[in-house]
Amino acid sequence: MESDLKNITSFVGQSYGPWSVLSIKTIVGKGLSLSSSMDIVKDISVEKSENTNWVLKGFTSNLRYTNRPEKIVLDQQPSVLGKPENTFAAFIPIKKNAEWWLLTQDERRKIMAENSKHIEIGTKYLSAISRQLFHSRDIGEEFDFLTWFEFSPNNRERFDELIFLLRKTEEWKYVEREVDVRLKKK
Ligand code: HEM
Repeated sequence: MESDLKNITSFVGQSYGPWSVLSIKTIVGKGLSLSSSMDIVKDISVEKSENTNWVLKGFTSNLRYTNRPEKIVLDQQPSVLGKPENTFAAFIPIKKNAEWWLLTQDERRKIMAENSKHIEIGTKYLSAISRQLFHSRDIGEEFDFLTWFEFSPNNRERFDELIFLLRKTEEWKYVEREVDVRLKKK
């Protein structure tokens, strides 16, 4: 059956593409195979082949957890992707466990926002890091989310600091698979 999902982005690990892969680190769960480069294509039809190491797909969507006051703050510094100075990137696919998905929306919001301060912590890094969240769970992918971040060489340590803080939170106790891919623009 042909899918009518149009808004799909494919992250393709292969031997060519605009991003060089600097490292692929398995944080928890099953890793991803090595790949020297990565391409990002707005195309659902890309399939895994002998020329690709992996193809991960996701779509951008509406907000699920952000409340109005948080959105007002986030909107003051909209993320712009593709800035020429942002020559470094992180691609971090994430899968949360069954326990997380059995929670209700309000319980998840409490863990993520109130207890873990994901949005509050993240907001502090908006001036240094551009970001885009892609959802994958609803299209039957192996990860639930594909997260993409761009930053300048000067802000590499700030990104490491941010991800260190987030991984210590209650929210991350529900992460059962996470792979941290670092990249550099060619
Ligand atoms: C750069 C600063 C960051 C900001 C401002 C930020 C902000 C947010 C916001 C507002 C949401 C909720 C979206 C919604 O309402 O549905 C969200 C979701 C998410 N963020 Fe971040 N974030 C940042 C960094 C990160 C980092 C470094 C990671 C690590 C990979 C990450 C992973 C995620 C994931 C996986 C979700 C989806 C969670 C879920 O729906 O269960 N974020 N982020």
